Amino acid sequence: MSDLNVVRLITKKRDGGLLAPDEIAALIAAYTAGDVPDYQMSAFLMAAFLRGLSDDETVALTRAMLHSGTVLDLSDIEGVKVDKHSTGGVGDKVSLVLAPMVAACGVPVPMISGRGLGHTGGTLDKLEAIPGFDVGLSIERYREVLAEVGTVLIGQTGEIAPADKALYALRDVTGTVESIPLIAASILSKKLAEGIDALVLDVKVGRGAFMKDETRARKLAETLVRVGIGFGTPTVALLTNMDTPLGRAIGNGPETAEAIRLLKEETPAGGPCDDVVEVTLALAGEMLHLGRATESPEAGRRLASAALRDGWSFGILQEIVAAQGGDVAALDDPDALMGEPVATVTADTSGFVADIDPLALGYAAVDLGAGRARKEDDVDPKAGFVLHKTLGERVEAGDVLAQIYASDPSRADTEAVRAAFTLGAAPPTPRPLLLDRFDGTRWERGMGNAD
Ligand code: URA
Repeated sequence: MSDLNVVRLITKKRDGGLLAPDEIAALIAAYTAGDVPDYQMSAFLMAAFLRGLSDDETVALTRAMLHSGTVLDLSDIEGVKVDKHSTGGVGDKVSLVLAPMVAACGVPVPMISGRGLGHTGGTLDKLEAIPGFDVGLSIERYREVLAEVGTVLIGQTGEIAPADKALYALRDVTGTVESIPLIAASILSKKLAEGIDALVLDVKVGRGAFMKDETRARKLAETLVRVGIGFGTPTVALLTNMDTPLGRAIGNGPETAEAIRLLKEETPAGGPCDDVVEVTLALAGEMLHLGRATESPEAGRRLASAALRDGWSFGILQEIVAAQGGDVAALDDPDALMGEPVATVTADTSGFVADIDPLALGYAAVDLGAGRARKEDDVDPKAGFVLHKTLGERVEAGDVLAQIYASDPSRADTEAVRAAFTLGAAPPTPRPLLLDRFDGTRWERGMGNAD
């Protein structure tokens, strides 16, 4: 499209108009080329956020972002390549456990992930908590590592979905994250560019997710699955609960340490994390089924569980860290990734943990340095929390609720962490973690819950 008039596109969207596919393609191409400044793109994103995008606009945006860089063809690497992506949550370190686990079962996992977004963490920032770990591999090396190890974890590059890389960073700091079409285009553009044959989505719902209610989370899942399938990639979504943090660690170093301990079948610093394992196995089951390693997701879950128990998954993690330049010795003492606690949060009264607010902890983690306030900010790899009490556990006054880790102790806000806990006279009614499953044709209730 010649004579791109960005102001006209912004005002058209601002006034509720529909953009044509070639208008969207031209805008994204010009932004990726550096010809549209961030202030205009921010205005466009806010207009899209407030007015929404139609299905056709969402497909056009996804296509434009997907083709902003190279679309990889991994057909020369053996196997059905399957990836998973989460729509974002607090304490969600699932990818770090899942990728080695699925690869250990023989299904290749090429994974392109994002950085922290809003109050949620990102896999790339977590991986970089391992000294030397390189998430910026060349495409050639990406292929080599995938072929050698069975999985590889990198970020969007100048080559793969560069439009998402730039838009993602801009959305993070312009209040334009929680939009169904923007999330769908962001996730699918980078995932479809990485050369996968199938995709599993973990759509988070609850206070700690971008989708707070089930209606919007289902709509996001349906959009993701339908657009994914429309691009020719079999796609399945699980709806999972994000009303409390996942696991006990929040923040990059703390979450990476927790994931490593889970892969080693050790108890993480704060205590057991059965919820992380439950979600990971459910997603692994879907991936192994789509990857044709098992006849059903349930059989996939059993295979993945064996791969965890037998240490195969941890073996793959060691191989990935070595192949991506990381310090393999750091895996011997994972808690060193977060250092020593700089503050301890104790309970004022006795009772049961009736609630833990993930959103409050997500924002507190960003304030501590685990996330970004401006897109050029660096994150503090050590910054975060380890919860020593979790939902339903008994607490006596003076017990440790959480410990705070940070390179800069002056940023630790014990009150913000304490306020995220609600203690009550009785334990809360347990809430299911795995809610629904959508495969493009129908919703199934409770799929993936323990056999
Ligand atoms: N994950 C992404 O990759 N993009 C989003 O917009 C939200 C979650």
